[in-house]
Amino acid sequence: MGHVSKAILAIALSIPLALATGEPEEALANGRLEQSRAIIAEFASRLQHALQSAMVEGGPAAATEICRDEAPRIASELSRQFGVNVERTSLRYRNPANMPTPWQSAVLQQFEDEAQQGEPPDRLEYLDDTGARYMKAIPTSGLCLACHGSRLAPDVEAALATSYPHDPARGYTVGEIRGAFSITWPSEDE
Ligand code: HEC
Repeated sequence: MGHVSKAILAIALSIPLALATGEPEEALANGRLEQSRAIIAEFASRLQHALQSAMVEGGPAAATEICRDEAPRIASELSRQFGVNVERTSLRYRNPANMPTPWQSAVLQQFEDEAQQGEPPDRLEYLDDTGARYMKAIPTSGLCLACHGSRLAPDVEAALATSYPHDPARGYTVGEIRGAFSITWPSEDE
């Protein structure tokens, strides 16, 4: 493979496009960027809708099941549909199943550094130079605080305690990076 070290460049929206000039590898990466963005946009919007309607119908405590069950369901549906591996991950993951791999962890850390330097989290994305690995940061919005903020309602606490006895995915404020979407494309040379 040999691209791992070069892969650690988390980038704001405009940069990967600017890098794409002629090389076959870069052309591939360029197509992958658009496709990856489209898949994640679909994932994000379906998740947002599911979460919002569940919050309206049953309140945040009931909606914890959406984040738990619906997110992986949508992820595997999209993975099958596009022949990729779609995931959510975070440096402070609530579910150990969402633990980042080493490359994801490095990209998440890079996103954090970029955000510290003033880059808006909703613009942080990453594509490695073979186009095989894509990530997009997920900013924390007001909607998230009911379950990822500092003060959770007692029924939310109770709902979370059952499934997630050790839960570092709290204490977030609006605008922080909650985690990232990730896509792994199948390797060309396998
Ligand atoms: C109703 C409660 C609830 C709300 C609201 C909510 N989440 Fe979650 N979130 C959860 C639960 C529960 C999990 C664990 C899911 C699992 O088991 O895979 C989770 C997991 C995640 C993960 C995967 C990484 C991890 O920590 O395991 C991300 C990323 C995430 N949430 C982002 C958000 C964002 C961004 C928002 C706001 C748009 C949000 N969540 C709103 C309950 C919620």
